[in-house]
Amino acid sequence: MFSTMPHPMPLVLLLLLLQIQLVAASSHPPWAHGTFTNHTTILPVRCLLGQASALLRLKRSFTTTDESVAAFHSWKVGTDCCRWEGIRCGATSGHVTSLDLRDRGLESDHLDHVLFELNSLRYLNLGGNDFSLSEIPSTGFEQLTRLTHLNLSNSKFAGQVPAYSIGCLTNLVCLDLSSYYEITEWYDHTHMIRVYFDQLILPNLTALVANLTSLRELHLGWVDMSGQGEKWCSALANYTPNLRVLSLPFCSLSSPICGSLVGLQSLSMVDLQYNRLTGSIPVFFANFSSLNVLQLSYNNLEGRVPPVIFQHKKLVTIDLHHNPNILGNLPNFSTDSNQLENLFVGDTNFSGTVPNSISNLKHLKKLGLDALGFTGELPSSIGRLTSLNSLQISGLGLVGSISSWITNLTSLEVLVVSCCGFNGPIPSSIGDLHKLRKLALYKCNFSGKIPSGILNLTLLDTLVLASNNLVGTVQLNSLWKLQNLYDLNLSNNKLSVIEGEHNSSLISFPNIAYLGLASCNINNFPNILGHTDKIKVVDLSSNQIHGAIPQWA
Ligand SMILES: *[C@@H]1O[C@H](CO)[C@@H](O)[C@H](O)[C@H]1NC(C)=O
Ligand SMILES: *[C@@H]1O[C@H](CO)[C@@H](O)[C@H](O)[C@H]1NC(C)=O
Ligand SMILES: *[C@@H]1O[C@H](CO)[C@@H](O)[C@H](O)[C@H]1NC(C)=O
Ligand SMILES: *[C@@H]1O[C@H](CO)[C@@H](O)[C@H](O)[C@H]1NC(C)=O
Ligand SMILES: *[C@@H]1O[C@H](CO)[C@@H](O)[C@H](O)[C@H]1NC(C)=O
Ligand SMILES: *[C@@H]1O[C@H](CO)[C@@H](O)[C@H](O)[C@H]1NC(C)=O
Ligand SMILES: *[C@@H]1O[C@H](CO)[C@@H](O)[C@H](O)[C@H]1NC(C)=O
Ligand SMILES: *[C@@H]1O[C@H](CO)[C@@H](O)[C@H](O)[C@H]1NC(C)=O
Ligand SMILES: *[C@@H]1O[C@H](CO)[C@@H](O)[C@H](O)[C@H]1NC(C)=O
Ligand SMILES: *[C@@H]1O[C@H](CO)[C@@H](O)[C@H](O)[C@H]1NC(C)=O
Ligand SMILES: *[C@@H]1O[C@H](CO)[C@@H](O)[C@H](O)[C@H]1NC(C)=O
Ligand SMILES: *[C@@H]1O[C@H](CO)[C@@H](O)[C@H](O)[C@H]1NC(C)=O
Repeated sequence: MFSTMPHPMPLVLLLLLLQIQLVAASSHPPWAHGTFTNHTTILPVRCLLGQASALLRLKRSFTTTDESVAAFHSWKVGTDCCRWEGIRCGATSGHVTSLDLRDRGLESDHLDHVLFELNSLRYLNLGGNDFSLSEIPSTGFEQLTRLTHLNLSNSKFAGQVPAYSIGCLTNLVCLDLSSYYEITEWYDHTHMIRVYFDQLILPNLTALVANLTSLRELHLGWVDMSGQGEKWCSALANYTPNLRVLSLPFCSLSSPICGSLVGLQSLSMVDLQYNRLTGSIPVFFANFSSLNVLQLSYNNLEGRVPPVIFQHKKLVTIDLHHNPNILGNLPNFSTDSNQLENLFVGDTNFSGTVPNSISNLKHLKKLGLDALGFTGELPSSIGRLTSLNSLQISGLGLVGSISSWITNLTSLEVLVVSCCGFNGPIPSSIGDLHKLRKLALYKCNFSGKIPSGILNLTLLDTLVLASNNLVGTVQLNSLWKLQNLYDLNLSNNKLSVIEGEHNSSLISFPNIAYLGLASCNINNFPNILGHTDKIKVVDLSSNQIHGAIPQWA
C-alpha cells in the first residue's frame, strides 16, 4: 500500500503514516515487510537552503580559532541546519527561529548583515563573544520583526546603540545589551570596579523603547545614558508598562526617580546602583507587590527613606548603601513572612537604635548597618539570626559591648564593627567562628588582650584591629597559621608587637598586601617583611625602630 503512494507527500502525513505502520507491525518486525525501508533515509533535509547559506556566511564572518572550530563543528554544508548546534527551527517551516551562540569565545571585527536574512528569528543570543569594539549594525534589526529575545551583552561592541533599528522590534520581551563588571568592595567600602569593555552609548532611551511595549526585561548595565535628564525614567514609565526587570547600573543616570514610575507595578527587580540619582526614594516601591530586589547603592539620593519599604513582604534584597544623604530609622519588624536576606544601609545618615525585632528577619544573610548614626545597645536577639554570614555595624552612639550573642553566629564569614562606641574586650568566642574570612574591629574602644583563638581562624584574609584600646604583646610569627592574610592592621592600640620565638626566616605571609603596624612599640624592622612578595602598603610609623633600613626593604 505504501509503495503505491504518490510522492511528494507532505512530510507530516508521511511521519504519521509511518507511526501507524510501526504500531500496526509491532507484533512482527518492520523489515518483515519488504516494501519499505527505514524512514531516516527518506527524510528530506528540513532546513531551507537560503537559511543554511545565510548561517554559513555568518560562520565565515568569524575568525577561525580553536573556539570557532568547536562552536561550528556541526555547521556543515549539505547537512540539515536545523540540527546544527545553537540552531532551532520552526516546527514545520524550516526557518531558523533561534540562534544561540552565547559564550563561545567567538571573534569577529563586525557583526555581519547576513544575520538579518534570518528573519524568522525569535531568539538571538550572541552574548559573551568578541566583536573587537566594532559598532552594532545601525540598521537591519528592524527586519527581525518576530524577535522576542535579543542578547548582545558582554560582546565588546562599542559606539552607539542602534536605538531606531532595535526600537522597531515590537515583539521584544527581553533585551540585554549590558557589559560585565566586577566590583570588589573592601571592609571599609573602598572599592574597585573592573570593566572589560568599552561603554556603549545610548543618547535617547525614548527612541529605543517607544515601540517596545511588550518589554519585560531591560538590561543596559554600563551603557552610557548621560545627558538625558529625567527622560530615561518617563520613557520607561510611558512605554514599557509590563517591565519586570529594570537593570541600569553604571549608566550615568543623573536625575530623580520620577513619580510616573509608579505605573510599573510588575517590577520584580530594580537595579540602579552606581549612578548619580538624586531626589528621594519613592514610597511607591513599597507597593510593588512582586518586588524582590531593590538596589540603589552608590547614588546621591536624599531624604527620609519610607520605613514601609523595609516591611515589604517579598523583598529579598534592599541595598541603599553609600547614599550619604538619605536618612531613616529601622522600623519594628513583624513576625509574619518577611523574606529579607540582604539589608544594607551603610554609609548613609541612618540613625536610631537597632530594634529587638530585627530577629524576626529570619532569612537574613547579610546585614550592613555601618552608618555612624546608630545608637544604643545592640539587641542580643541578633544571636537568633543564625543564617547571617556577613554583619557590618557602626555607630558612634552605640554602647555596650559585643556580648554572648556572637557565639551563635557560626555562619559568619564577614564581621566588621567599626567607628563605634563599644568598649569591653573582644570576646574569646570569636575564635569559634571558623568560617570567618574578614574580621575588622576598628575605631571602637575595644580593650583587653587579643584573644588567642583568633589564631585558629585559618581562613582569615583580613584582620584589622586598628585604633582601639587593646593591650598585650603580639608575636608576629605566631600568626604564621593565617596563610591567607591579605590585610593585617594592628595600628594605634597599646600593643607591643615583636617578632616572636619562631625562626622568622621560615615564616612568610605569601599574600599580604597591607600591613599596618603604626604605634605598636616596635624596636626592629620585622624580618617577616623580607618574605612578602605582594606587599603594597606598610605603615610602621610612630614606633621606636633603630638602625639602618635592611637591604631587602
Ligand atoms: C537505514 O537504512 C540504510 C540502508 O537501507 C542503512 O544504511 C542505515 O544504516 C539505516 N539506518 C538506520 C538508523 O537503521
Ligand atoms: C545574556 O547572555 C549572557 C551570556 O553571555 C547571560 O549571562 C545573560 O544572563 C543573558 N541575559 C539574559 C537577560 O538572559
Ligand atoms: C514606532 O512605530 C511607529 C509605527 O509603528 C513608527 O511610526 C515610529 O517611528 C516608531 N517609533 C520609533 C521610535 O521607532
Ligand atoms: C528621542 O526620541 C524620541 C522618539 O523618537 C523623539 O521624539 C525625541 O525628540 C528624541 N529626543 C532627542 C533629545 O533627540
Ligand atoms: C499603595 O497601594 C494602596 C492600595 O492599593 C493605595 O491605597 C496607596 O495609595 C498606594 N500608595 C502609593 C504610594 O502608591
Ligand atoms: C543627618 O541627619 C540629621 C537628622 O537626623 C541631620 O541633622 C543631618 O544634617 C544629616 N546629615 C547629613 C549629612 O545629611
Ligand atoms: C518599636 O516598638 C517599640 C516598642 O515595642 C516602640 O517603643 C518603638 O517606638 C517602635 N519603633 C518604631 C520605629 O516604630
Ligand atoms: C542562640 O540561638 C538559639 C537558637 O536559635 C536561641 O534559642 C538562643 O537564644 C540564641 N542565643 C543567643 C545568645 O542569642
Ligand atoms: C574607652 O574605654 C576605657 C576603658 O577601657 C575608658 O576609660 C574610656 O573612657 C573609653 N573611651 C571612650 C571614648 O569611650
Ligand atoms: C584551636 O582549635 C583547637 C582545635 O579545634 C583547640 O583545641 C584549641 O583550643 C583552639 N585554640 C584556641 C586558642 O582557641
Ligand atoms: C632559621 O632557619 C634557617 C633556615 O633553615 C637557618 O639557616 C637559620 O640558622 C635559622 N636561625 C635560627 C636562629 O634558628
Ligand atoms: C590601618 O587602619 C587605620 C584605621 O584605623 C587606617 O587609618 C590605616 O590606613 C590602616 N593602615 C593600613 C596599612 O591599611
